Amino acid sequence: MLDSKTKLISLLGHPVEHSIGPAMHNAAFKETGLNFVYLAFDTTHLNTALAAMKGLNFRGFSVTIPHKQKIVELLDRVDPLAAKILAVNTVVNENGVLVGYNTDSDAAINALKGKISLSGKKVALLGAGGASRAIAFGLQQEKALTTIFNRTFEKAKSLAKAVGCEYSQFEKLESFKPEIIINATSVGMSPKSASSPVDKRVLKNKPLVFDVVYTPLETVLLKQAKTAGCETVSGLEMFLEQGAEQFKLWTGQDAPRELMREVVERELAK
Ligand SMILES: NC(=O)c1ccc[n+]([C@@H]2O[C@H](COP(=O)([O-])OP(=O)(O)OC[C@H]3O[C@@H](n4cnc5c(N)ncnc54)[C@H](OP(=O)(O)O)[C@@H]3O)[C@@H](O)[C@H]2O)c1
Repeated sequence: MLDSKTKLISLLGHPVEHSIGPAMHNAAFKETGLNFVYLAFDTTHLNTALAAMKGLNFRGFSVTIPHKQKIVELLDRVDPLAAKILAVNTVVNENGVLVGYNTDSDAAINALKGKISLSGKKVALLGAGGASRAIAFGLQQEKALTTIFNRTFEKAKSLAKAVGCEYSQFEKLESFKPEIIINATSVGMSPKSASSPVDKRVLKNKPLVFDVVYTPLETVLLKQAKTAGCETVSGLEMFLEQGAEQFKLWTGQDAPRELMREVVERELAK
């Protein structure tokens, strides 16, 4: 029941109509009996939207494409990890002070740590965009031995320099023999879901394979990895983790993860 005490959370992005955040968070608020509501706003006017968040006393909000980088310089405070990543996906309004966080980084690391320890592991991180950047800094914190591979080589080099890790060419992936492969490119994502970022030969040493893509839930890469006998982590785990961390930042309570999983799986199956 919404009333004058309802705490407001939003999503700011463009486009937002396919987002499953509203279904996931509203179900979680209902389940935990919290008087919160989550609304999606399709906006290209970030400055005005931020003024509205403050002026209307929103408790917090998610930030998505195309605002994750631009918002960093517009917030009152930014958490140190988000400041390194130079991207914010979650904001908390602390009595009129807008504080930015990046929950993608910890989410990816926690999803991986559910299956494997990261310290000293040889990781091939594919991609050098926003998701890769968040994951690369998280891997550095965990003392993994990360090498970045990207279609556009210059971007791999530039990200590796910012993070303080290695970079290499895609053609060298097979001989690199990673213990963990993370796909942080958009290859395999719907509607182009028939492709994989790697040749199956790369999987012959049975690395753990983590695909950040979660539409479809089981990507071609994850299918290849299962066939090759590799352990796998799906993008769904990262998505749920980042959502659970957002929930905690806004409400101070632990998220109802199993319910959130059910809702997300149902929404993705539509
Ligand atoms: N599970 C989660 O919670 C979660 C969170 C965030 C993002 N994601 C997913 O992560 C993926 C990447 O998102 P992003 O924000 O990092 O996107 P982005 O910033 O646009 O980066 C895209 C990356 O994919 C590479 N790429 C695109 N098409 C390619 C192709 N045909 N062949 C080889 N490389 C290609 C790009 O390489 P170039 O540099 O050469 O263009 C770049 O490295 C998306 O599918 C997104 O949905 C998942």
